[in-house]
Amino acid sequence: MANIPRHIAIIMDGNGRWAQKRGLPRIKGHEKGAEIVREITTFCANHPEIKILTLYAFSTENWKRPKMEVDFLMKLLDNWLKKELPTYIKEDIKFEIIGDISKFSKNLQDRINFTKEKTKNNKKLTQVLALNYGGRDEIIRACKRAKEKNIEIDENNFEDFFDTKIGDVDILIRTGGEKRISNFLLWRIAYAELFFTDTFWPDFTSNELKNIIEEFKKRERRFGGI
Ligand code: FPP
Repeated sequence: MANIPRHIAIIMDGNGRWAQKRGLPRIKGHEKGAEIVREITTFCANHPEIKILTLYAFSTENWKRPKMEVDFLMKLLDNWLKKELPTYIKEDIKFEIIGDISKFSKNLQDRINFTKEKTKNNKKLTQVLALNYGGRDEIIRACKRAKEKNIEIDENNFEDFFDTKIGDVDILIRTGGEKRISNFLLWRIAYAELFFTDTFWPDFTSNELKNIIEEFKKRERRFGGI
């Protein structure tokens, strides 16, 4: 039986290089990248096998970027959520996040929570944005939470202690040419099929995603068995 691409996760890399190659400021790459987020989300929402799309939008390391770029990314996210809400509602998409947003401005936190609340009963697809997210941080916080509750963790119950339960990843894609995981979803990618493409995120298309899904369906997944 072919594999089912239930959960797709993407490290959206290459926005800055895409812009620089065109003599544009890096932020133009992020702007174009946001349009691709819309295209890929719509594609996933229209493929019933795909239930979760998790996107790495801001890592715990991204605070090291110039303040102007960080501020721009925050503003972009705020505007984007404002603009996308009608689409989430129309397309039956639930909006979720992983990561620690307590470092974001109060306004942005409100916008995120408002979007979550308004879409919480939507069913077709869950779009998860990883915001101020780090995979190690998520694991450590889960361990602390289990300890506080004095519950012994095992492989089956561990995810219950994460902020958001989204389950294992089936396909992990990284655009932009690097072959790294960069602290993304460490616990949940244990058996993910990995795909690395040289395409910069702003050039990524639903057609390329379609080809990746086709290849995924042909791959043999043994989950440690034979
Ligand atoms: C990596 O490219 C991308 C990011 C750090 C930010 C991701 C943001 C977006 C795709 C746009 C905004 C998203 C939403 C949901 C509104 P990079 O800047 O590291 O590129 P580089 O490696 O070429 O420098």
